[in-house]
Amino acid sequence: MTQTTQLLKVSNLSVGYAKRKVIDDLTLAPFEPGTLTALVGPNAAGKSTLLRGLAGLQRATGAIHLGDLDLLRLPLPEYSRHVGYMPQSLPQRVALTVYEAMLSALRTSHGSSSPADARHIAMATLERLGIADLAMRGLDELSGGQRQLASLAQAIARRPSVLLLDEPTSALDLAHQHRVMSAVQELGRERGTITIVVLHDIALAARWCERILVLSPRGLAADAEPKIAITPDTLASVYGVQARVEHCSRGFVQVMVDGIVCDRGI
Ligand SMILES: Nc1ncnc2c1ncn2[C@@H]1O[C@H](COP(=O)(O)OP(=O)(O)OP(=O)(O)O)[C@@H](O)[C@H]1O
Ligand SMILES: [Mg+2]
Repeated sequence: MTQTTQLLKVSNLSVGYAKRKVIDDLTLAPFEPGTLTALVGPNAAGKSTLLRGLAGLQRATGAIHLGDLDLLRLPLPEYSRHVGYMPQSLPQRVALTVYEAMLSALRTSHGSSSPADARHIAMATLERLGIADLAMRGLDELSGGQRQLASLAQAIARRPSVLLLDEPTSALDLAHQHRVMSAVQELGRERGTITIVVLHDIALAARWCERILVLSPRGLAADAEPKIAITPDTLASVYGVQARVEHCSRGFVQVMVDGIVCDRGI
């Protein structure tokens, strides 16, 4: 079982496809253990590509270090033990129950030392996300939101040092969005996990994350705490919207969009 105490460092990272480099020479400030970072940006900016590059699932050049560990030099099974990933699109037809899928995810990690441990971790994680009553249901008979929660539970249960979540709240109602963000924040702090989460809801990102990376198709537009990263100028240049950024009575960032400045296409 890994307890993260080390920094994640991303230097000169490039990630892309045969004919298109999407992430070009990206260097980021180190990610500290126990922190929750949002990755936001318009459609097609490259958020999923960056996340897959960080997860070791997309060919990447440059360097990704977890402490002294040079992640890009590791074989994928070992890489995946350190870095957990939840994809944006979830598999539709999986003939396993939620509980069986949890045990299967745990078998491929080093997070559990015995079958009894694995069973305990599986149920404890489902309970933590409020879906213990789904344990014996088939994954293929769940609603979209339920399936998203089950997939998140698998990623969390494996206790990676770095947890990468691609739009984990996109199918969730208001209460579940906040429940998930709260659980991810709390677990991250308990375990020292470095968590990076792709979100489209900027207010949700600002409410729960201490750091926001704003990715535009031209590269990184901001990397700072929410109040500094999210400004009308950034929203205009990155999303092409005219927006007001205000702070609620509790100090959280709120975004009101008044109009589209220019249509950026996709
Ligand atoms: N398998 C692929 N082969 C070639 N190009 C791809 C592939 N997947 C994505 N792209 C392209 O890479 C660019 C970035 O896509 P990516 O999926 O990373 O965007 P995103 O920021 O996650 O967008 P969204 O918010 O819509 O999920 C887009 O122009 C997309 O068309
Ligand atoms: Mg995406």
